[in-house]
Amino acid sequence: MRVYLDHNATTPINPRVKESFIKALDIYGNPSSRYEIGRRADYHINQSREIIAEFLNCSPREIIFTSGATESNNMVIKGLFYNESIIQKGDHLITTSIEHPSIINPCKSLEKKGFQVTYLSVNAQGLINLDELKQAIQPKTKLISIIHANNEIGTIQPIFEASQIARDHNILFHTDAVQSVGKIPISLNNSEIDFLSLSGHKLYAPKGVGLLYIKKSNYLSSLLEGGYQEGSMRAGTENVPGIIALGESFKLLKSDYLEKSNKIRSLRDHLEKSILESIEGTKINGHPEKRLPNTLNIRFDGIEGEAILLKLDLQGISVSTGSACHSESLSSSHVLKALGGSDEDAHSSIRFSLGESNTKEQIDFTIKTLIQVVQELRQLTAK
Ligand SMILES: Cc1ncc(COP(=O)(O)O)c(C=O)c1O
Repeated sequence: MRVYLDHNATTPINPRVKESFIKALDIYGNPSSRYEIGRRADYHINQSREIIAEFLNCSPREIIFTSGATESNNMVIKGLFYNESIIQKGDHLITTSIEHPSIINPCKSLEKKGFQVTYLSVNAQGLINLDELKQAIQPKTKLISIIHANNEIGTIQPIFEASQIARDHNILFHTDAVQSVGKIPISLNNSEIDFLSLSGHKLYAPKGVGLLYIKKSNYLSSLLEGGYQEGSMRAGTENVPGIIALGESFKLLKSDYLEKSNKIRSLRDHLEKSILESIEGTKINGHPEKRLPNTLNIRFDGIEGEAILLKLDLQGISVSTGSACHSESLSSSHVLKALGGSDEDAHSSIRFSLGESNTKEQIDFTIKTLIQVVQELRQLTAK
């Protein structure tokens, strides 16, 4: 049996999304061309924009298609801080210590260029403190960027309250909502969120497509210099099939994502309860309730998460030791360390992230296999 439990790293393509993607490969016109074939491609891009805008409750004109969330996140940070006219208004940014590397690394680059960045701490369950946020604000703070739901532990941050604090101080607010959109409700209308990033391949659409929501009246300088696509915000011929597929995946989300999320939550809860009850020395990383319905990050005392991952893989079960971005370096997760644990705690954790095709049978097989794997590994270390 193959059991894929790493949906926070990427999702399989939904068959209907795949069908729309394949059909869209024939829509070969350049959306900037003025003749019929080009106009047709442009029409389809705008159809997707409308579907997505309806889901997010914003205006289609506020959506800029990108190659994914790494680009969207870089676009906000660099588009705001590398713009001469905007810099004058502020050179300080507030973010958190548990952001994805596509926020953390651009922030590190800003620091090297002399900008100031405050990284908010989180408590043992991964939540920021809104008082700490208020205290971090300076007259020169230009942007607050807070991840909505963390990819490793699933903890959900109070972004609506945080964005209100930003607005009260006349500061722009960005959220990386890659992991939350499509799993929990989010509505941009009447929110104080200025920028929001998301990515297709976490939403059953292909890799290489995503978007940045830019609230009306906000402006970013473009990362790429070139043509005038996407309202001059993102130069480069659009990824027409990817954008059409992304629209299709939002169409599907709209019909039943909350129902699916509830089903996934009950499978995740079953997995969690069974592990905690049947395996000693286990502890959840992240918040018990304010957490994505599909995510379970759990520590197994005294064993390497990497060893569990490899043994589960031999049985056909795919899990992760944290972010896909860490898996190559084997360095311990900055997110787990930010919760206050040791390197050893971080190295003995596993993330299970469920998705829409998982079944009870798969979860039961995973529990049974995991109990055996942990027992074998503990016996080895006891020798
Ligand atoms: C929270 C978060 N932000 C950003 C990204 C980057 O997205 P993309 O792969 O589309 O560049 C990811 C992907 O892992 C993520 O989980």
